[in-house]
Amino acid sequence: MPDLLLGQTLVFDADPFAEGPGAARHDAHGAVLIEGGHIAALGPAEVLRPAHPGARVHDYGRALISAGFVDCHMHYPQTGIIASWGRRLIDWLDRYTFPEEMRLADPAHARTIAALACDLAIDHGTTTFASYCTTAAHSADAIFEAAATRGLRIIAGRTCMDRNAPPGLVDTPERAAEETAALIARWHGRGRAGYAITPRFAPTSSPAQLAALGALWAAHPDCAMQTHLSEQTEEVAWVAELFPAARDYLDVYAGAGLCGPGAVFGHAIHLTARERAHLARSGAGVAHCPTSNTFIGSGLCDVAGLKADGIAVGLASDTGGGSSFSMLRTMAAAYEVGQLRGRALHPAELWWLATGGSAEVLRLGDRVGRLAPGMEADVVVIDLDSTRAIAQRAARAETLWEALFPTIMMGDDRAVRAVWADGRCLRARGVAPDQGAARPAAPPCPPTKEER
Ligand code: GUN
Ligand code: ZN
Repeated sequence: MPDLLLGQTLVFDADPFAEGPGAARHDAHGAVLIEGGHIAALGPAEVLRPAHPGARVHDYGRALISAGFVDCHMHYPQTGIIASWGRRLIDWLDRYTFPEEMRLADPAHARTIAALACDLAIDHGTTTFASYCTTAAHSADAIFEAAATRGLRIIAGRTCMDRNAPPGLVDTPERAAEETAALIARWHGRGRAGYAITPRFAPTSSPAQLAALGALWAAHPDCAMQTHLSEQTEEVAWVAELFPAARDYLDVYAGAGLCGPGAVFGHAIHLTARERAHLARSGAGVAHCPTSNTFIGSGLCDVAGLKADGIAVGLASDTGGGSSFSMLRTMAAAYEVGQLRGRALHPAELWWLATGGSAEVLRLGDRVGRLAPGMEADVVVIDLDSTRAIAQRAARAETLWEALFPTIMMGDDRAVRAVWADGRCLRARGVAPDQGAARPAAPPCPPTKEER
């Protein structure tokens, strides 16, 4: 039976960085028809409702129906160390991150954290995410399995590191390539999963490991490739020491065959003009991680400048370097970073970064990130009055953007009214989270007025 979602709909026909806020259409009484895991139709409620009398109706009233959020860079193994105090990147990795990633050597623990990370994503309205794993191959199996159980779209990869990390986490060029190849065979293109070849970052991979992973990517060009680039100034200086022959940080990756369409570079803050020009030419994308960049003290990414250069940019939580699982909170941080750089991002731009922009960076823009007929049915329903503070501000709003902005700036998981992934309702207000034992046989949404 098809499902008909009623509410205010927000539909992007284009990228608002290029076309302005007019790239988005708002219908105060809209409808989204879901059938067979896909969006079958979109339009005014008064048209779609009578046209589909057999559909199960979910009336969300004045809530906003949007494409589900797409988080294009996170680290599920770091879920347990989010909000760890007082370190900069390299110390933070040594003090908090590597010890935590070592704990996932226990496959049962990896499965527990993977399930938790997926449930937290759903709680916050995220229906697609790209995650790093640890160097243990089973850590990749754990997150692919947890995402599949819930029907989430996922890109993930076993992290590769053969130096400058604790002995319990380092691998070798050969083992990294062999295990990555086996995981690609097991997961890439299976259900809603895609594989990302994942060298952690240049300091933790030898030139031989980067070259081996570059060769593997050349053999599997439809996989993604994710890594970190120019996040902190100390890191950039370290890369220059480790790779004295490279022209700059990006040149290390490009020289190993790790820059091109499908490459997702996290952070990309301290770039030279040459690196920006190379990124633009290469078709690679950038994951903007603003809560992480302020939390670890990394710097202010020039999102508007990267976009103006023609570089695809998406939004990312970067948990647990990032300080929030919420893409709403992440949008707020992107706004604040933009303000500190002298460019106030429009709410349409912020929403695009968290949906269609991230999907494009992950080369999933034809499947998720926008509400359109034929797209996969990943939807988040957002209350625009989820707290007293937000409600009193939204009540004065005269436009959709004015009504939405308080939720962007002050909203969190309390604003998430319902979450649909792969055409199924995974979460609705008041319904206990599925612990991932099995995908629900039927949508767990409480009955709507019509059904009662
Ligand atoms: N650079 C290399 N590894 C990491 C990581 O886990 N998080 C962040 N924020 N930056 C990194
Ligand atoms: Zn990261």
